[in-house]
Amino acid sequence: MKLLRHIANLGYGSRREIAGWFLDGRITDANGAVLDEDTRVDPAQVRIDGEPLDPPPGLVLMLHKPVGYTCSTKDPGRLIYDLLPRRYRYRDPLLSPVGRLDRDTSGLLLLTDDGGLLHRIISPKSHVSKCYEATLAQDLRGDEAAVFAGGSLLLESEKTPLLPVPMETLQPRLVRLTLHEGRYHQVRRMFAAVGNHVAALHRFQVGNLALDGLPAGQWRALDATDIDRVFGRA
Ligand code: URA
Repeated sequence: MKLLRHIANLGYGSRREIAGWFLDGRITDANGAVLDEDTRVDPAQVRIDGEPLDPPPGLVLMLHKPVGYTCSTKDPGRLIYDLLPRRYRYRDPLLSPVGRLDRDTSGLLLLTDDGGLLHRIISPKSHVSKCYEATLAQDLRGDEAAVFAGGSLLLESEKTPLLPVPMETLQPRLVRLTLHEGRYHQVRRMFAAVGNHVAALHRFQVGNLALDGLPAGQWRALDATDIDRVFGRA
């Protein structure tokens, strides 16, 4: 792919704007030699104003999503894309969230522009587990772990029961749950089904990949070992 198109697809600007940057000599190789827009060159060698280019397609990120941000490109209010470099919203292929977290849920969110990888992670066949910590509005009544583990809980307006969900009780109002599927608002609806209410919800792990101290609002790119962790291979 020609360099101009590659840079435009990374979301830096329109092709017209980037053509201007070539003419202005802002786009160089690692040694500072000015490049031409038609050059075919290893993108790793390219600099804009001396700075390396963003990673090429095949990008996978983990974001520690804070409460109050929506997993969307255009809802009103704060968006997860506000937490990434502005141009990441305009990448082609698009950087999409892998599944969603509700606006009021915090925690580990993956994003990728690799559609095949995205589908492998969310496919039930991959058995990628998702671990949540839920703070409840009321004390547990006692039978919740058995109800959730039973594999017969039917959520309102659904036809198939949930897969079993292991639950660990940390305190009377604090639990950890491991989901192997991702129904709409699943955790909140599970607790509504047993007469409780989720006051706060946080996802701390996907497969074997954990937030590991990444602060709220921060993100980092994943490498091959991280992706193996997502699939439980590392
Ligand atoms: N379950 C929920 O209810 N909300 C989420 O964001 C994720 C799982």
